This record gives sequence, structure tokens and C-alpha cells, in this order.
Amino acid sequence: YNQAVELKSLAGQTVLVSAGPTVEQIDPVRFISNHSTGKMGIAIANALENVGASVILVLGPTHLKVSNPFVKVIPVRSADEMLQQCLNFFPKANIAIMSAAVADYRPAKVASDKIKKDEEVLTLKLEKTTDILKTLGSKKRDDQLLIGFALETNNEKEFALKKLKTKNLDMVVLNSLRDAGAGFGHDTNKVLLLDKYGGEQEYPLKSKQEVAKDIVQAIIGLQNA
Ligand code: CTP
Ligand code: CA
Repeated sequence: YNQAVELKSLAGQTVLVSAGPTVEQIDPVRFISNHSTGKMGIAIANALENVGASVILVLGPTHLKVSNPFVKVIPVRSADEMLQQCLNFFPKANIAIMSAAVADYRPAKVASDKIKKDEEVLTLKLEKTTDILKTLGSKKRDDQLLIGFALETNNEKEFALKKLKTKNLDMVVLNSLRDAGAGFGHDTNKVLLLDKYGGEQEYPLKSKQEVAKDIVQAIIGLQNA
């Protein structure tokens, strides 16, 4: 009986998840992107669906397939498209988890024709994208939970806690690129969860499926706190 209750603990709730990279066009044939595959975010979407949540997954370009037919996938390309879709679905969400590797900068102007190799040194002017997570944080209601990621290579905890505060998050999932077996493309991950109450939970290296379950359980714990 207990297990049945545990299994569907997010029944009736809507969860918005972002995942994958974004792609920022330079000209008709080139773009700026990153190594994210969306694997962690897709695993989170599956884990949420498994405990009964209605999941909306705003997903940047990836070769990975979302095998769970009950996860509603909203495909996007750029940071701006991801922002628009997240803003669109956030008001209906009880929980939002932003795991996407959003480009921090995009070309200030997209060239309409292919850029020719006329210059010895080419300088691209880049402008900052909107911080989607921070934008949602500024709109968050008291009845919503917002969870972000922090990808760091140094001063990990300090930087992650700063993101928790400045983006008005309930919890931050810290990923250190110093941990072997963690990060882009790997099937495994190692995370430290930091919540706004000062709670701190470190997990060992696990499969991304198992990490996703840990994250979902921690969120359920926060919701019942
Ligand atoms: N994020 C976002 N929109 C952006 C950039 C980041 O929503 N334009 C979100 C990511 O999805 C992640 C969190 O912000 O949940 C942290 O991303 P990260 O790259 O670690 O931090 P930044 O705030 O972008 O700062 P920096 O890259 O300088 O460390
Ligand atoms: Ca960033």
C-alpha cells in the first residue's frame, strides 16, 4: 500500500522541465551550441512521469529520443524559443526544473548570407541571452517550486548557492565538471543538492536514471516540508 502511494506521489501535478542544448544561429550554415545531450533532463522527465506527474518537456535539439509517450515534448532550438515556451507553460506548472544547457550568448546579428572567409581574423559580436531560470524565479508564486542546475568547475558550492539565491530557487542541483563520470554525454552523474532551507545532500556517482529518481524524491520532500 505504502509503495503504491509513494509511486504516484505527484499525481495531479504538472511539472515543466527544460533539457538539452540550445542552438544559436550565426549565418545560414553555422551556429553556436554546446555538448549537452539532454540525457539528464529526459531522465528527470521520465522519473516525474513514473510518479504520476503530467510532464511538459521543453527540449533543445538532441539526437536522443524521448521514449515515454506520456511526456509532452515541446521541441525548441534557440534560447529565445526556449524562453517563450517556458513562459508559456510556467503559470500552469506546480514545479519547474530547468536542466537545459542554455547558451549564455548569441550572435548580436544573424547574417542573412553565408559569411565568406575574407578576413584574417573574424570577430563575432555576441549578446547575452535572457536567463530563463531567473525570469521564472521572478514570476514564481508561493505555490510553485523552482529547481535549477549549476554547472561549475571551481568554487562549486559558493557559485551554486549564489545561483540558488539570485534566481529565487527552492533547490539547486550542483554538477561539478571535476567529478569523473559526471556531465555531458555520460550515462552517469554525481550531484550535490542544495535547498533554500540550508539542506544539503551529496550523492555518489550513479546512472542518470537513478540520479533523476533522487532529484524527484528530494523535490517531493521539499514540497511536503
Ligand atoms: N539557465 C537559463 N537560462 C540561461 C542560462 C542558464 O535558464 N540563459 C539555467 C540553466 O538551465 C541552469 C541554470 O540556469 O538551470 C544555471 O546554468 P549555469 O550555466 O550553471 O549558470 P549561469 O547562471 O548561466 O551562469 P554561468 O554560466 O556564468 O556560471
Ligand atoms: Ca551558463
